[in-house]
Amino acid sequence: MITQWEDSVSVLNKFESVQLNLFKEMEENAETKNNDRRKGSQATLRTNQSSNRKANSSTFSDNMSLPIHRWFRYSAGFSAIWVNQLIEQEKANGRCRILDPFAGSGTVLLEGERCNVETIGIEAHPFVSRIARAKLYWRESPSRFRDYALSVLEKAQKTEGSIEGYPELIKRCYPAESLARLDSLRRAWEEDNDGSSISELTWLALTSILRSCSPAGTAQWQYVLPNKRKAKVVDPYDAFQEKVQLMSRDMAERQNSIGGPEGRLYQEDARQCLSVSNGWADLVITSPPYVNNYDYADATRLEMSFWGEVQSWSDLHYAVRQYLVRSCTQHVAKLKLNEKVHEIVCDPLLEPIHSELAATCKSLEAERENHGGRKPYHAMVAAYFYDMARVFIALRRVTAKGSLVCFVIGDSAPYGIYVPVDRWLGELAKSSGFVSYRFEKTRDRNVKWKNRKHRVPLHEGRLWIKG
Ligand SMILES: C[S@@+](CC[C@H](N)C(=O)[O-])C[C@H]1O[C@@H](n2cnc3c(N)ncnc32)[C@H](O)[C@@H]1O
Repeated sequence: MITQWEDSVSVLNKFESVQLNLFKEMEENAETKNNDRRKGSQATLRTNQSSNRKANSSTFSDNMSLPIHRWFRYSAGFSAIWVNQLIEQEKANGRCRILDPFAGSGTVLLEGERCNVETIGIEAHPFVSRIARAKLYWRESPSRFRDYALSVLEKAQKTEGSIEGYPELIKRCYPAESLARLDSLRRAWEEDNDGSSISELTWLALTSILRSCSPAGTAQWQYVLPNKRKAKVVDPYDAFQEKVQLMSRDMAERQNSIGGPEGRLYQEDARQCLSVSNGWADLVITSPPYVNNYDYADATRLEMSFWGEVQSWSDLHYAVRQYLVRSCTQHVAKLKLNEKVHEIVCDPLLEPIHSELAATCKSLEAERENHGGRKPYHAMVAAYFYDMARVFIALRRVTAKGSLVCFVIGDSAPYGIYVPVDRWLGELAKSSGFVSYRFEKTRDRNVKWKNRKHRVPLHEGRLWIKG
């Protein structure tokens, strides 16, 4: 007999459904020196969001052809089409309250709205959460937004921008003329800013063109590379105008279709889910940070530096990183390493995986001595699972009996030492009161390239947890 549980998974298998993040895709590349070979290998899905085509991509890049999703390229995001299919499928099973505790740029929120279900998103990164919130303002009048934003442009064109006062990174990323234009846009926006939704949409239009106006390269995982140059650079005024036109067209198009309840976004911590009431969610769709040393704070460094929210790399910790699940070594740099790691590993929350975790951390601690960087991966891994244990406790509180949880997740092997992420997360979910878990592999990783740092086979997929 097929249970509903098995059925959910198999129906999704009908879609070619690997929906993993660009940065996760890129983790494999980071381990190779053959990055260029991958260029162009990700097919661009030219599809209208309203079509019934099956999801056939694994990255956020597909979202760049979808209204509203495309307003900001968030490399860490996953596929809107897959999210839409999962919500529709689970709606048929009576699940109409969706939670994304790691909402990122708002993919699940926007698709929840489109599918006419109630949706809550939680995102702790202040800058990313502001981007997601601005996208949720698509209900505003497109013509009012366009008029407002174009008047900002007109004002900017009449004033002279200045390159003074910008952080060093920004000065290195822009020629003086481009920066002066961006500055005049910024000043014009600041003068008119009244905190309204339309002003926030205008803020997003300016924020989202910053990369395309800079000749500086963008590395994997969205880190900015001031020393690398790219060929195609656009003029700030042209890019801004084009973005405003695109956004207003998307708003109008989206407003033509039937809308569901507004998605609710909270800038808070998934380890607590404070704004979500007990038993509220019956479906969780999310992709948490992987334990792969990706620094979400660094990913928005260019944009935050432009807006004056950080002056230097070290500001990122206080502005962003301190709020996030600890998934990179910068996060744990301040831990008193060995003492503290031992304390974390022995915490009762980690009891279900204690012996394996302790052994892995011990190996990582020994292995770091063989590497120049002496990265504290042992601390990162311990802190990550501790934080994720707290996430599961919070999720158990806010999910209903019989709920379904889907984590898009990948495993990892820092210094070549394997960390069985899906199994450990599954065990932590069970010890928080979830009934069972099952991992559905969607992709092998670290198998393609010759110059890999290590040859430990890795995979990605979905961790399905039954509530
Ligand atoms: C893989 S991304 C999710 C991307 C999202 N699915 C999308 O399509 O845009 C993980 C997100 O979790 C956020 N995050 C990390 N720690 C968090 C925490 N403690 N609470 C809430 N969000 C957190 C990060 O800032 C990041 O945006």
